[in-house]
Amino acid sequence: MMLKKFGCISLFLVLFEFGNTASGNSLALEINELNNASEKYTPSKMDVGQDNLQQSNEFSGILTRIKTGLSETSSILKRNYNRYHKKRRFRRLGRFHGPRRLEFNSFIEQNTRVCRFPWSIDNFENIYAITPDKENSGWAMSPHQQCMRGTWCPYACKPGYYSAQWDPDAVSANGKGSTNGGLYCDEDGILQVPFPERPFCARGMGNVVVNNTLANPVSACQTVYPGNEAMIIPSTAHPRGSVDLNVVPKSYWLSTSCQFYVNPAGSTNNECIWGNSKQPLGNWGPYIFGTGQAADGHTYISVRYNPLYIQSGFSLKNTYNVKIACVAGFCNFPANNECKCENGACTLPNGCTVTLTNDAKAQFVLY
Ligand SMILES: *[C@@H]1O[C@H](CO)[C@@H](O)[C@H](O)[C@H]1NC(C)=O
Ligand SMILES: *[C@@H]1O[C@H](CO)[C@@H](O)[C@H](O)[C@H]1NC(C)=O
Repeated sequence: MMLKKFGCISLFLVLFEFGNTASGNSLALEINELNNASEKYTPSKMDVGQDNLQQSNEFSGILTRIKTGLSETSSILKRNYNRYHKKRRFRRLGRFHGPRRLEFNSFIEQNTRVCRFPWSIDNFENIYAITPDKENSGWAMSPHQQCMRGTWCPYACKPGYYSAQWDPDAVSANGKGSTNGGLYCDEDGILQVPFPERPFCARGMGNVVVNNTLANPVSACQTVYPGNEAMIIPSTAHPRGSVDLNVVPKSYWLSTSCQFYVNPAGSTNNECIWGNSKQPLGNWGPYIFGTGQAADGHTYISVRYNPLYIQSGFSLKNTYNVKIACVAGFCNFPANNECKCENGACTLPNGCTVTLTNDAKAQFVLY
């Protein structure tokens, strides 16, 4: 049940066991019951070979162009938007219910079926490029997967930011459209921006950090959702340092929340990858954190041991401890006024959830 593998991922509930909620309502944070997301496309040899060569030759020039200024990307977008609407047939815009199709004209791949990743590694859009040297070339997709025409291509954001672009037509968090995050690579190889009025990466709630008191770094790996739900978006807390953890606002995609698989001590961005029953990384990491703002405006954050880590025979005694600490405002804890996982036991058997009321702030303290 907990098993995830490439291509087909069965995820489970982010378990939120509520204490008394501050507002007294029976609040249920929209829970990500992540299901069945499957990678829709497996590139054949023919798709990959030739295109890749051409892509890598052209790529460096484009990166230089995009790197040259803070507003470079947005001015390209604007320019292309105007150009596009002068020359294109509007009926093709129907998908987004209005004249919203943008294009990165400069990035159209001739003679390929691929939309290239349009940002450099050190971009100004707070976008985090995932394995840019692999076939995914930076998109938040599997390393072997390319952004193909006619598909949605999710991208990752830096710690504390979330991707504010997704398929406006998606209506169900589990079914059709649940992999449709990011930009749309259309049949002409043009990247469409579904919500042009939004940034690519928006600042999250900004009320939660990971405070790492350990002598080694630890990476928390967020799942790509909407997307293939792989836990490949890293936030790494350096030794005796802290890192912002993404908390999505209630306006986030279909009111869903964030899920993080948290790695053992000694892990970095590079360890937000698929582990296995011998290697407790990513989906097999020791902890699962959940974060999100609910419809009531409060933020809910949760911690639990990862059942798959336990089932695989890894020892809870061998890993660090985690407690949620309130650092500003009022946080509502479960019954005994704590929420932690220590020496193999959590405050509640299946982990616990803390409510950050209004502007409260909290930390996941690793110790
Ligand atoms: C999940 O995958 C199975 C097997 O591929 C399929 O039969 C089922 O309909 C899928 N469920 C959903 C909700 O997509
Ligand atoms: C991290 O947590 C420790 C232990 O609770 C605390 O002493 C320290 O002040 C925290 N660090 C920050 C940056 O808040």
